[in-house]
Amino acid sequence: MAMRKVAKLAALREDRGLRVEIGDEKIMLLRDGDAVRAYSAICPHAGGPLDEGAVCDGRIVCPWHKGTFRLSDGALLEPPPLDRLARYPVEVDGDDVLVSPEKIVEPQPSPPADPRVMLIAGAGAAGAAAVAALREFGFGGRIVLVGREQGPPFDRTSLSKFVVAGQMPPEETPSLLPDTFYADQRIERIEGELSRLDVRRREATLADGHTLQFDAALIATGSVPRALDLPGVDLPGVHMLRTRQDAAAILADVRRGAPAVILGSSFIGLEIASCLREQEMAVSVVAPEEVPFARQFGERIGRSFRTLHEAHGVRFHLGTEAVRLDGTGRVESVVLKDGSVLPARLVIIGVGVRLATEFVEGVEREKDGGVPVDATMRVADQVYAAGDIAAFPLPSGGPRARIEHWRVAQQQARIAARNMLGGDAAYDGVPFFWTYHYEKTFEYLGHAKTWDDVVIEGDLDRQDFAALLVQGGMVGAVVACGRDRVTAILAERLRGPLSTEAALRIIRSA
Ligand SMILES: Cc1cc2nc3c(=O)[nH]c(=O)nc-3n(C[C@H](O)[C@H](O)[C@H](O)COP(=O)(O)OP(=O)(O)OC[C@H]3O[C@@H](n4cnc5c(N)ncnc54)[C@H](O)[C@@H]3O)c2cc1C
Ligand code: FES
Repeated sequence: MAMRKVAKLAALREDRGLRVEIGDEKIMLLRDGDAVRAYSAICPHAGGPLDEGAVCDGRIVCPWHKGTFRLSDGALLEPPPLDRLARYPVEVDGDDVLVSPEKIVEPQPSPPADPRVMLIAGAGAAGAAAVAALREFGFGGRIVLVGREQGPPFDRTSLSKFVVAGQMPPEETPSLLPDTFYADQRIERIEGELSRLDVRRREATLADGHTLQFDAALIATGSVPRALDLPGVDLPGVHMLRTRQDAAAILADVRRGAPAVILGSSFIGLEIASCLREQEMAVSVVAPEEVPFARQFGERIGRSFRTLHEAHGVRFHLGTEAVRLDGTGRVESVVLKDGSVLPARLVIIGVGVRLATEFVEGVEREKDGGVPVDATMRVADQVYAAGDIAAFPLPSGGPRARIEHWRVAQQQARIAARNMLGGDAAYDGVPFFWTYHYEKTFEYLGHAKTWDDVVIEGDLDRQDFAALLVQGGMVGAVVACGRDRVTAILAERLRGPLSTEAALRIIRSA
């Protein structure tokens, strides 16, 4: 197809893209030194506008969930996207930039035959990222993906944002990879329960008795919601949320105007509170903490979450806990420590998770069930772990940490995949997490356990801010809302030490 004049060369920048549209094609143009690049302006993950993100140190960063691509060729560097950027032919003629709206067809080399068998245990965030990465990195042998949930890996994060809010049917939760991917890429997908994985013998056993010998494995079985040991928790109407089936069961109990009680002020608990207000239920939150998210974000930001939820009609019962759930045939009320009784048609338990690692043999697990790994995500010879279960050394130092974030699970899975094929890559990413309340996305970058100052730029109460959690003048983590481009830049800058002043300059100038 003919090239079209779409922009003046002088309008292109090196630090962000320029969007042009030809028919339905949304194309992002970028300066890369003397070269001009033309990529899809739409992120292959969830459609983020890449021209509103950032370009730093040769990396394009998506504003929405910080997926990154290589500036020079659009290759995928970091998830959540699991695919590269589409490229378009581009030319410069004097002052003019010309682009063809026909995407470049990328070569699909057939990987060489390989006798090895790769087992991916757990078909969630990390599992999907691992199978995609193994093929992307040129592995041509058998890949077996085992997961106990029905259907191919899906976007779990949507459950507590759109599905329980009634905006997306559970069965339409987006798949992480195209439906044709598994057949096209010869991924053997087994829907089943792993009852044993012997790290030393490199052998996995399924609950139905099948065994599988593997040459290398990734253990990525994630978490399951932690139950509460309370009288009445087994009554119908009491739920936890991890799977599409859980979401469907919650939706079946949603009734407009009826009372719902959330036990726990966790991210999932409060995201569900927001969903149930969307569904016009009368929502109460009960939790032992005095301020939600104070441990992660500090008291001031935590209080602003409480204010946001109260402004939308949520009632908080904090500094207390439930002692009993009552009801005949189904849950009808929640009894608190001080004897007060909250009516409840629906109860959600959102008090954290326990790790799904009981089936792993031959490794000493941590007290919480975490599987210790080194920086290359290696558990033992040819066995790796990623995601919620992996206790890994943070690039910033300190004791091993486990981080329950979607993007971290996928970043680690790509590193593990590289190393299963003989590489020696180490996790050096910047942890990133997002959470969604009343149509506002809050972002968290980095990993700070302690801080001596919280520096806030912007307006917390209007959900338009970037806050720095600072220790000794250096930024440990960033919490932000409504500042996608700033966080895209900071996600890159936090790869090294970042002073408060330098971070503030970025925030004020972006
Ligand atoms: C409702 C909800 C919303 C969330 N929202 C966000 C968010 O907005 N942002 C964010 O950063 N994080 C979010 N998280 C956290 C995020 O989903 C997890 O950190 C991430 O999924 C971890 O990835 P993983 O691959 O380790 O585990 P998972 O994605 O949980 O995948 C593990 C898979 O292994 C399977 N499995 C477990 N045991 C076995 C077994 N014995 N045999 C076979 N299969 C097994 C499980 O069924 C599961 O499918 C959310 C979590 C939930 C539940
Ligand atoms: S939309 Fe780009 S990373 Fe999610």
